[in-house]
Amino acid sequence: MSAPLLPAIERVLFTEQQIDDRIREVAAEISRDYEGRVLKLIAVLKGSVFFLTALARRLEVPVKIDFLGISSFSNRSGAPGVVRIAKDLDEGIEGEDVLLVEDIVDTGFTLRYLLQTLAGRGPNSLSVCTFLDRNSRRIAQLPLKYRCFEIPDRFVVGFGLDQNQLYRNLGYVAVMKT
Ligand code: IMP
Ligand code: MG
Repeated sequence: MSAPLLPAIERVLFTEQQIDDRIREVAAEISRDYEGRVLKLIAVLKGSVFFLTALARRLEVPVKIDFLGISSFSNRSGAPGVVRIAKDLDEGIEGEDVLLVEDIVDTGFTLRYLLQTLAGRGPNSLSVCTFLDRNSRRIAQLPLKYRCFEIPDRFVVGFGLDQNQLYRNLGYVAVMKT
């Protein structure tokens, strides 16, 4: 039995079962690619934490985890893309195989900044695994090695994604009413 939808939600895009199935597939792919190595998973607070823990539990290679906190601003013209680190990693990543775990890649500005920053710290490898990809709005072109789902150009919540800090705890991903 599934819980009734919240009033602000228009429809479910991915159910808990679909999310679980897809994460298992992506985790199997990552486990094959990194066989024999130790993986450092880095997630951006707070949205990506839900995806990181679900993914990590399905991986068959040894994993370490660390977290980054960021603040994003719009500049005076309203353009996005100004990002700074508000909470840095606890440990360095030099020589490590790093997988940056993202909840959603939209314009790509956030990810571009993170990749530049992390690349400068000398990891052995640096790749991206995103839960959601809204490719239709991409401005900064970036290599997304792993992706669970492509989504349409609608605002979504759930499984870590928020609207004004709410709805992160939903087990499914849903489109909000406009
Ligand atoms: P980007 O820098 O434009 O790629 O934006 C990525 C960030 O915007 C994500 O990490 C989210 O915090 C936020 N974001 C973008 N689209 C959505 C959405 O549909 N729901 C919730 N947050 C979103
Ligand atoms: Mg995010």
